[in-house]
Parts: sequence; C-alpha cells; structure tokens
Amino acid sequence: MALKPVRGKSHAERLESFYVAQVDAYDRFRKRLLTGRDELMRAMDPKKGEVWVDLGCGTGANLTMMDQHRLAELKKVYLVDLTESMLRVARERVQENGWENVETVCADATIWTPPEGSVDAVLFSYSLTMIPDWFAAIDRAYEFLKPGGIVGVVDFYIARKYPSERRMRQSFSTRWFWPMWFSFDNLFLSNDILPYLSRKFEEVTLIEREDRLPFCPVFWKKMPRFIFVGRKPQVDSNS
Ligand SMILES: C[S@@+](CC[C@H](N)C(=O)[O-])C[C@H]1O[C@@H](n2cnc3c(N)ncnc32)[C@H](O)[C@@H]1O
Repeated sequence: MALKPVRGKSHAERLESFYVAQVDAYDRFRKRLLTGRDELMRAMDPKKGEVWVDLGCGTGANLTMMDQHRLAELKKVYLVDLTESMLRVARERVQENGWENVETVCADATIWTPPEGSVDAVLFSYSLTMIPDWFAAIDRAYEFLKPGGIVGVVDFYIARKYPSERRMRQSFSTRWFWPMWFSFDNLFLSNDILPYLSRKFEEVTLIEREDRLPFCPVFWKKMPRFIFVGRKPQVDSNS
C-alpha cells in the first residue's frame, strides 16, 4: 500500500494517483484487510422500497455482501465515489450483476445531494478516514437522511486517551502507531469520528475491536476498528 508515492494537487487527483495502479487487485487484497463490512450490511437491515446511498463506495463491493433478494427490493441505491478508476469497477459490477436499481455517481461526498432530496440509509465503509473533511461528509449525510433513517459506518480509528466508560481503551502505542502508519496512504485515523457519530445519531449497534494485520502473521500490533449503526432522531436536536 505505502510503496508508491501519492501525487496530485487536488484530493481527487491524489485519490486517482493512489488507486489507479491497484484498482484491479483492490477487491482481492482488501477482502482480508477491510473486515466488518459484511457484519455492517447485516446490521443495517434493508427494507423494501428504501433509497440507499454508499458514500465513498469504491468498487461497490458492499452490495455483494448484502442479501441479494433484499437488494433487488430496494427502490434505489446510489454508489458515490470521487475516484473514476474505482467507479469503473463499480460500474462493471453493476452491469455484471444486473442490478437495475443501482446507479454510480462520480461526486464528492461532502457536497453531493441525492436527486430524491432525502434517503433511508447511508453507508460509509472505510471512506471517512479518507475524506479530509469528514465532518462535512457526516453533516451532509445527516441532512439528507430522513428522520429515523439509518447511518452505517465501519472504519479504522483510534480511541481518545480517556474514552467514556462504555468505550474501548487503547494503549499509547496503538494510538500513536496506527495514525502514523496509515498517514503514508493519506488515510487519517481520528479519535473524533466515533464520538461525533454518537453525538449526532442514536446508537443502534456499536462494536469496537482490534484485529491482527492480514498477510503479516509475525506482526504483533493489532489494528483498531469500529462498526457503528445509528439512527437519525425523529426530532432533530442537532440544528
Ligand atoms: C478505502 S476506500 C473504501 C472503498 C469501499 N467503501 C470499500 O469498503 O471497499 C475509500 C474510498 O473513499 C473514496 N473517497 C475519498 N474521498 C472521497 C470524497 N471526498 N468523496 C467521495 N469519495 C471519496 C475513495 O475514492 C475510495 O474509493
């Protein structure tokens, strides 16, 4: 991951430079690294007639982890990503699977708005840590989610030094090592993403854990990640 230097003046150019050479091997390599996506899809419980959005969808692999009968019953799914090479694979996947209710969109997740105006569910899988202004991406999703709508997030993270009682504690070395490691790939681990999600949404599911790094059996340091499913309150207390 960290071997090729990332170049470009804009965020979109840097993403393209990072992904263009690895996109065809992306799904194979990330399968063991980006775990928890299948759990997230199960926890989000899609329902007939709903509109869903996957922000920073990459190659659209999340949809293969969804019950295909339930996917077919959704009214619409938008796969949104800023990297054209990733979307090319997503588009091919949509065609191959004959997903007629799925549309790919090349756009910035911090400013995109769904044509319907509001949606039932928003997904961020390993995308918030790659979006520099992730506050804006969460705020945007919050705005276009219906009251009672669901947000689902899985990502790497670090805990605060003194997390609240229910939250997992992490060692100093974990909180120091992983942000440095991931920053080589312009992926920024934050100790604020999870508290920010918890502040805006009513918690439905929260899993925090540390897993071994795949492909490196002798590497002892475990990677921290979380799975969060939240509901937008019926009465908006955030605005
Ligand atoms: C680590 S990949 C995860 C892809 C996919 N969600 C998955 O789980 O395999 C992060 C994705 O976020 C996208 N991304 C980063 N910044 C973005 C932005 N501002 N708007 C939309 N997509 C963005 C990248 O292009 C990339 O496809």
